[in-house]
Amino acid sequence: MQFIHYRDKELYCEDVPLADLAEEFGTPLYVYTKGQILENLRAIQAPLQEPDHIVCYALKANSNPAILQLLAAEGAGADVVSAGELYLALESGFPPDKIVFAGVGKREDEIEYGLQNDIFSFNAESVQELQLISLVAMRLGKKARVALRVNPDIDAQSHPYITTGLKENKFGISAHEALEAFRYAATLPSLEVSGVHTHIGSQITRIEPFLDAAKFLADLVSRLREAGIAIQHIDVGGGFGVQYVNAITHEGLPLELGDSAPPPLSQFIEQVLPTLQATGCSIWFEPGRSIVANAGVLLTRVLYTKENGVKKFVIVDGGMNDLLRPALYHAYHQIVPVKIETYEHEKVDVVGPICETGDFFARDRLLSKTKRNDLLAVLTTGAYGFVNASNYNARPKPAEILVNGEKVRVVRERQTLEQLFS
Ligand SMILES: Cc1ncc(COP(=O)(O)O)c(C=O)c1O
Repeated sequence: MQFIHYRDKELYCEDVPLADLAEEFGTPLYVYTKGQILENLRAIQAPLQEPDHIVCYALKANSNPAILQLLAAEGAGADVVSAGELYLALESGFPPDKIVFAGVGKREDEIEYGLQNDIFSFNAESVQELQLISLVAMRLGKKARVALRVNPDIDAQSHPYITTGLKENKFGISAHEALEAFRYAATLPSLEVSGVHTHIGSQITRIEPFLDAAKFLADLVSRLREAGIAIQHIDVGGGFGVQYVNAITHEGLPLELGDSAPPPLSQFIEQVLPTLQATGCSIWFEPGRSIVANAGVLLTRVLYTKENGVKKFVIVDGGMNDLLRPALYHAYHQIVPVKIETYEHEKVDVVGPICETGDFFARDRLLSKTKRNDLLAVLTTGAYGFVNASNYNARPKPAEILVNGEKVRVVRERQTLEQLFS
């Protein structure tokens, strides 16, 4: 089911008209659907029948506490990359033995915080980090379980900023140094080296790179076991792609050109699982985007329209401070009217109020004709949306709403001007 959908010509989130939410809570406004989040999580969990195959939600995609509590209650684990995310995960009820701590630059106090809370594992990314984890564990009289993140040099064919598994990327230990690094880690007294980890990138829309990564990991596990290192878990990372283009279709909307739809979520898992399961390891996944992206929209209101002889601009009240992805890496988000009032289309730039030319949501985009005060929905903004919001140009951060059927909950209040001063 599509939880964000048109009923006739009006856009709804589950059973709530989005126009009503904009009216009540103002714009810009993030709105999330609980139903879609749960459906996404279950699509990933369903093929993972074994109790020790775990879906660790990557908090970086969206760390709203209400969403975290929802996912924790559904049995998900958590993938965290900072003390802040670990704090949020613990407060939201994720069990420590289902938390993995990833990230290329963990500070000593963050390692200590993880150890004190007995998290399942650190995904270490360098030999120096292994040394530090061992030292901190020794100081605390603990044993730290670690997986080593190995960079398999696989091209995920995603955007360069979110491709992480190539040898020129900063992430992990390179494949040819992996065996050596594992051997060394096994000599450190306060480490239990039990896992291999990889994460080849984000918004990957084909299954082949994951199959390559699975084969690489299975092969690495057998080489490590031959070397006497008892690997018990494989962490495959996240990265499953979602549909940004034509996320919603309606006879009144222009048909968008672009990438074909990625395969259904469960297929990513079903296809890599046999290779991974053959190792006898427990299998961990770290999806972020695929759980929340299509569960969120950003509502924004048209302030003005203007033409300069070259272009037509639609100036909206949301900007790069609310949604950074288009400015950061030209990310594509479909933009649709909350009420379809015309079937006429026009090519426009949708731009925000920030004093930067890079402050745009869409360029040269065919959109339904718009006018002052129209409401627009920027789709597929549940992931890497609010988490990247800032106070640039001293603009308060938007509110966030979670919808469940007809029920509406404010899960983060809009920032006030006074909060900008504190
Ligand atoms: C180590 C790691 N795991 C998981 C994720 C989540 O990726 P995605 O949101 O594409 O599923 C990321 C994102 O960059 C990551 O760096």
